Amino acid sequence: MNKELSYQEAVNEVKGIVDGEPDLIANLSNIAAILKERFGFWWIGFYLVKNDQLVLGPFQGPVACTRIARGKGVCGTSWDKAETLIVPDVHQFPGHIACSAASNSEIVVPIVKNNEVKMVLDVDSKEFNHFDSTDKKYLEEIAVIIAGLL
Ligand code: SME
Repeated sequence: MNKELSYQEAVNEVKGIVDGEPDLIANLSNIAAILKERFGFWWIGFYLVKNDQLVLGPFQGPVACTRIARGKGVCGTSWDKAETLIVPDVHQFPGHIACSAASNSEIVVPIVKNNEVKMVLDVDSKEFNHFDSTDKKYLEEIAVIIAGLL
């Protein structure tokens, strides 16, 4: 199946799993699982804005950094700019935070409500140049679904 169709299925799964469930942590956990199982990402998870820091939330994959300051790393930059960042080679990104030495490319999508970034969705791959405009399109669609739960 092509990536576009697979993401369309993933979006439907996400809509189904959050339907009628008010608990945010439960929903973020299942969304991370849906994406990890389907796409086999190296690491996928959420960092939640708490007291002007990003704090690790539900994720799938190896142990990760717990806290990230605003403007730091790919996640902190995505938060600061309130925009999705696709990084084809994390080793070339100034200030990249290497939670795992095995990660080579990354996409970070902010989740915005009332013009404020509330959390970011971070996805890491062992492959260089793994993420493209299709990942951006559908992960942003999922970000909008999550914003609707906040
Ligand atoms: N690489 C990220 C840190 C989070 S981990 O990849 C899970 C960054 O530079 O913000």
